[in-house]
Amino acid sequence: MITAGYFIAIEGGDGAGKSTQMARLAAWLREVTGREVVATREPGGTELGETLRDAVMHGGHVDPRTEALLYATDRAHHVASVIRPALERGAIVITDRYLDSSIAYQGYGRELGADEVERLSMWATNGLLPDLTVLLDLHPEAARARMTGELDRIEQADPEFFERTRDAYLERVDLDPARYVVVNADADIASIQMEIRGHIARALEIDPDLISRDEATA
Ligand code: TYD
Repeated sequence: MITAGYFIAIEGGDGAGKSTQMARLAAWLREVTGREVVATREPGGTELGETLRDAVMHGGHVDPRTEALLYATDRAHHVASVIRPALERGAIVITDRYLDSSIAYQGYGRELGADEVERLSMWATNGLLPDLTVLLDLHPEAARARMTGELDRIEQADPEFFERTRDAYLERVDLDPARYVVVNADADIASIQMEIRGHIARALEIDPDLISRDEATA
């Protein structure tokens, strides 16, 4: 289906700094484009999604297939009730995580297989893929060092799990480079933001003079 909006996904391992970067990117895009910008996240992004988020991240043990289905359920509802309607209105939609998270975490991390998990997600979303996916790439050890506070159920996985998720993301980029930009997340917040804006500006034909460092630190 043809949408009038533009769909951006921000991806990366836990601790890569997605949420911080996404908030800044959304504020900047609102300012420079004057368009409606919908900033959302997975899991979550809807009332049902927040319930599913709580169940999958903070509940008791669930087996990998149940986990994959919970993320897919969240994504199906998120797409149907938030993302697709926003794109049809012509909005720019930015989501903190999308289908590549399932492939990286359930497909590779939990070793369910990339193809099956991708098929599940494509079914859940009725085939909706982002126009551009920004991968914030960070070595899992550096990411782990940034994590403070209590770890959720997913973050408690062993280090090899996070090695596999990182490899998965990078493999996805290799398979379809036109759909991704990779940003080194081992840098300061403002520099990362500037680099992300540069990529988005090119994709959306925003005047590069509007990428200002001052606002990146705001
Ligand atoms: P995250 O978005 O990183 O939020 P926070 O910053 O609050 O930890 O947490 C979501 C967790 O869910 C993260 O560990 C990745 C995981 N996840 C999956 O395993 N599969 C998925 O499909 C999605 C969307 C997330």
